[in-house]
Amino acid sequence: MQTKTGFDSLANKKTVTSLGKAGKAGRNQRLKTNMDFYKNRSALNLVMVAIAIIIGSASIIYTNDLVKKLQSRERRLIELYAKTLEYTVNEQNASDITFVIQEILLPNNSIPLILTDGIGRPLESKNIQLDPGASEQERQQKLRQELDYMRSQHEPIMITFRDEEGQIYDYNYVYYKNSDLLINLEFYPYIQLSVISIFFLLVYFTFSYSKSAEQNRLWVGLAKETAHQLGTPISSLMAWIEYFKADDQLKDSEVIVELEKDIQRLEMITNRFSSIGSVPILNSENLGAVVNDTVGYLRRRLSKKVEINVNALPIDIRASISKPLFEWVIENLCKNAVDSMGGVGRIDISLRKGADDTVIIDVSDTGKGIPKNRLKKVFTPGYTTKTRGWGLGLTLVKRIIERYHKGKIYIKESEIDKGTTFRILLMS
Ligand SMILES: Nc1ncnc2c1ncn2[C@@H]1O[C@H](COP(=O)(O)OP(=O)(O)O)[C@@H](O)[C@H]1O
Ligand SMILES: [Mg+2]
Repeated sequence: MQTKTGFDSLANKKTVTSLGKAGKAGRNQRLKTNMDFYKNRSALNLVMVAIAIIIGSASIIYTNDLVKKLQSRERRLIELYAKTLEYTVNEQNASDITFVIQEILLPNNSIPLILTDGIGRPLESKNIQLDPGASEQERQQKLRQELDYMRSQHEPIMITFRDEEGQIYDYNYVYYKNSDLLINLEFYPYIQLSVISIFFLLVYFTFSYSKSAEQNRLWVGLAKETAHQLGTPISSLMAWIEYFKADDQLKDSEVIVELEKDIQRLEMITNRFSSIGSVPILNSENLGAVVNDTVGYLRRRLSKKVEINVNALPIDIRASISKPLFEWVIENLCKNAVDSMGGVGRIDISLRKGADDTVIIDVSDTGKGIPKNRLKKVFTPGYTTKTRGWGLGLTLVKRIIERYHKGKIYIKESEIDKGTTFRILLMS
């Protein structure tokens, strides 16, 4: 009798052969869509970022243009004010113009300005908030401050006064600064962009949070359901074994021994699924022993051309782990390693103590390696380069290490055609 049960072959993803050609074609199709999806998704992200940058810069460029236009308009208005003032003083019969300036021109725009005499003493101000209760000295003080600021912002406009002969006898200056409207407009695109970005960040985080909550429910639900469904046939198989053992002809046969092994394996699988479907219990375990157990089991099943070495020094490296889940991790990493070297090569598992109470577990293979641009993708669900792969192995491994053990897993190094090293960090 073959030692491989139906379940084993399922675990080894071999059932597909029974699907025949149509099944294979379907798998190939799925692989292609998977790959397209990953390619498209990163392309889509790039397009989104590009669009965001274009919209952002366009909005800034456009408002900057508006600011410039408004600025030159304000300058023209001040010049008009200065010209009118000059005209009023120089043409004796034009006193009505002052009325035009004071009552129509200035109240209708909000450009703050100060009129000074030839040596820069304030004579008059417009659109500048002055405290009505302030003393004359305080007012002058405030106006001087404003003047300094205006001087730094724009060139003043000169007004020349001439006598009847056309000789210049005095100067005045008009100082001004940007209106509130202009100041607001300058800041507007930045405020607008920050508000929009905050909004999008918020949406993004809410979305990814609910996505991960949903994924979580899916993992837990599926795992629990699987464990539950396996329970019934396993108990029934155990009853059958008891029945066979009672039979004098069968009780010493090899069949029963093999059946018992298979049932043990099924129980282990159920145990794994039920552990991942609930909050797993962590116990302090001797990691070297656990890894050796798993590897011992794998050695018997893998091709003799794959050598697996375990290097655990010191001998008693301990960490709090869920044994069934941690075994699952080691098994998954070893299976991937075997796949990557086409059945011939070496796997080295080394365990040692790191800094700050950590334990470092390196799983190295002599396989075909992972290209640089794929290093991050291998942990995403559905990512696979195998015609018969599901792309869930490393997702599961990452979930077990990071979620259930609060550890870390990453690819320490990978070189094409040389091999790959996965590193796990656990707290001891
Ligand atoms: N040790 C390794 N060497 C090379 N490539 C690997 C290794 N482990 C994983 N990979 C790559 O990561 C992919 C995802 O692995 P996994 O999540 O276990 O899914 P699957 O084994 O079903 O493809 C694999 O298809 C393979 O391309
Ligand atoms: Mg795998």
